[in-house]
Amino acid sequence: MSEQVSTTTGPATASDGGTPLVRARGLVKRFPITRGIILKRAVGHIHALQGVDLDIHAGRTLGVVGESGCGKSTAARVVARLLDPTSGTVEYEGRDITNLSRRQLVPIRRGVQVVFQDPYGSLNPRQSVGQIISTPLRVHGVKGDRRARVQELMEQVGLNPEHYNRYPHEFSGGQRQRIGIARALALEPRLIICDEPVSALDVSIQAQVLNLLADLQRDRGLAYMFISHDLGVVRHVSHQIAVMYLGNIVERAGRDQLYDAPKHPYTVALISAAPTGERGARTRRLLLAGDVPSPADPPTGCAFHPRCPKARLVSGDAGEVPERCRAEKPPLTPVDGAEGHEVACWYPIEAGDEERMREIQTQDITIDGHDVAGGGSDPGIDVQPAAKDVASDSTGL
Ligand SMILES: Nc1ncnc2c1ncn2[C@@H]1O[C@H](COP(=O)(O)OP(=O)(O)O)[C@@H](O)[C@H]1O
Ligand code: SF4
Ligand SMILES: [Mg+2]
Repeated sequence: MSEQVSTTTGPATASDGGTPLVRARGLVKRFPITRGIILKRAVGHIHALQGVDLDIHAGRTLGVVGESGCGKSTAARVVARLLDPTSGTVEYEGRDITNLSRRQLVPIRRGVQVVFQDPYGSLNPRQSVGQIISTPLRVHGVKGDRRARVQELMEQVGLNPEHYNRYPHEFSGGQRQRIGIARALALEPRLIICDEPVSALDVSIQAQVLNLLADLQRDRGLAYMFISHDLGVVRHVSHQIAVMYLGNIVERAGRDQLYDAPKHPYTVALISAAPTGERGARTRRLLLAGDVPSPADPPTGCAFHPRCPKARLVSGDAGEVPERCRAEKPPLTPVDGAEGHEVACWYPIEAGDEERMREIQTQDITIDGHDVAGGGSDPGIDVQPAAKDVASDSTGL
């Protein structure tokens, strides 16, 4: 990201006090893999979320980062109650909303809105901008002069209110994302879930949209759950960051703490691959071996073990992983002396590890039958999200 992006509103502290706006606990989401055309039978499951806890605080931004397919969008949809979790709970303003009916969810939907990645796919091409932005007002039966309200919203997001009758194809990508943001703002939500909101935009346009989100947060005290595969973007907008890998949160901390003292080997690799910031200025990257394993058949123990350079460091053998990493799933555990910092790793990063991990990455190795030739040129990071991320639906109203 470029420097013109304004950073978060308020200090990027490790933790926020008080009752969170959203509190999710133990979220598990499994999608059945089916065979057969008429008689569909489940032949397995995609383990999209494997026990995720999230807190989102009023007026703050929780960044969620991880490679494509790690469960970010699923987490977003479960938190927004567009998807039911297989198990786990979601609380909103202290109230359990996990099992509410569609009707009971209506007032919650006013408070929690979603902005999707693809500003074109999420806008109905046959509706004018005025119709699109006024849809939530109509659906929720908001009284008053809707046209005036929509034009006010257009102005607030930097669109010309005179373009009320234009259609989405008449706008640029950045402007279309502004339309999506105006629609999300229409019901004056407390939380906007932004799922890769700038990933489809040029870098210069990304900065403008991120600045708009920051301004709106400052002016309205909005909370964001901000999802991106790009750590550089997440860094600019987040107060706290959760790093996801294969359906799990593997590390969570205040933004600065996460960047200055990452404890999970996967976070170290993500930061090392990010093209921006002081760390990005270094030429030697820590490249991860192999691809992300399939969430249909996640590895045992720590899901990161087939790719983990630290595990190899601990075992002292580039082809070996400690038994514990292979057999036991590490829980998210507080980091000593660092408030609000948690890591899910049996052998968190210590001083000097990064350099030593780089040294072993050049060796060719096989772990648990996974061919993870070390030092591959593709870090498997910063990949574009899959096309399925593109929502054809609007805000899920
Ligand atoms: N509706 C669905 N049906 C089946 N599998 C799904 C569905 N949505 C997501 N998945 C799978 O769940 C995993 C996590 O996907 P997703 O949450 O979209 O990840 P991300 O947003 O991090 O790229 C992927 O393997 C994806 O293919
Ligand atoms: S638990 Fe083991 S495999 Fe998992 S991240 Fe830590 S060192 Fe690596
Ligand atoms: Mg996604």
